[in-house]
Amino acid sequence: MNSALAGKWIVITGASSGFGAAAARAFGREGARLLLGARRRGRLETVAGEAARAGAAEAHVCALDVSQTPSVEAFAAWIRSRTERVDVLINNAGGALGLDPVATGKDEDWETMLQTNVLGVLRMTRALLPLMISTPGSYILNIGSVAGHTAYEGGAAYCAAKAGELQITRALRLELCGTGVRVGTIDPGIAETEFSLVRFKGDTARAAKVYEGVAPLKAEDVAEALVWAASRPPHVCVDEMILKCADQAAPHKLHRRPPADR
Ligand SMILES: NC(=O)c1ccc[n+]([C@@H]2O[C@H](COP(=O)([O-])OP(=O)(O)OC[C@H]3O[C@@H](n4cnc5c(N)ncnc54)[C@H](OP(=O)(O)O)[C@@H]3O)[C@@H](O)[C@H]2O)c1
Repeated sequence: MNSALAGKWIVITGASSGFGAAAARAFGREGARLLLGARRRGRLETVAGEAARAGAAEAHVCALDVSQTPSVEAFAAWIRSRTERVDVLINNAGGALGLDPVATGKDEDWETMLQTNVLGVLRMTRALLPLMISTPGSYILNIGSVAGHTAYEGGAAYCAAKAGELQITRALRLELCGTGVRVGTIDPGIAETEFSLVRFKGDTARAAKVYEGVAPLKAEDVAEALVWAASRPPHVCVDEMILKCADQAAPHKLHRRPPADR
């Protein structure tokens, strides 16, 4: 194995599906050592198996709910029991709930989005920074969204949450400048994962409509960007990367092929 990431300790939150699972497999192919968290432990175990078969030096899983400080603390303690250093932290856990306008928005949806996408990133970073600050060249990579750059109707809370993630990334970048710890955000546009199924609370038909006639990003596209950023030499920091499919010029500007052309 000749990869810059071989043997490195990579922590991925939200590794049970979508970008996080694809990232586990992609970092596995690089021979990295993986520490994976999410709420669905069974799904994590499947992903860890796939990553191990792809070439991961190690792949371990632990249940994690980033919306709860005690769960994040327990996850960090589990990590400390396995390693004294973390080379890459990927703060990926999160998502959207609902597409209601503010006028009819639901407290529980807003609270979950802010708890996971914003406070989850803060909590996890605080918990693991001691293991990164002593590791020059380590990298905190947050998953943001085009929603953090451009608002859309029905997206007020999610857009606010991802704008929050972007500003956390920028503040951390300033706070950690000179420590050798790198900080960046990868901000994708429309990508086909379980994101829309979760947003529409299991409504498969509504979720499928989001991707109708479009060639969206795949989870693997985002995973490749993460691997690329994480494998730059230690003097290079990818601060902010926006990644969109060719069919999407902005959150509200999508080229959809007519049924005859699909
Ligand atoms: N797909 C898109 O179009 C898109 C675009 C831009 C940004 N994003 C962002 O990309 C990230 C990954 O989303 P995805 O598209 O891969 O969707 P996904 O397939 O639904 O994956 C979301 C992951 O986050 C985990 N998660 C959710 N809440 C959690 C919590 N409280 N604690 C721990 N883990 C939690 C889920 O695991 P469990 O349910 O097992 O906990 C799952 O592994 C999210 O931050 C999302 O906002 C997605």
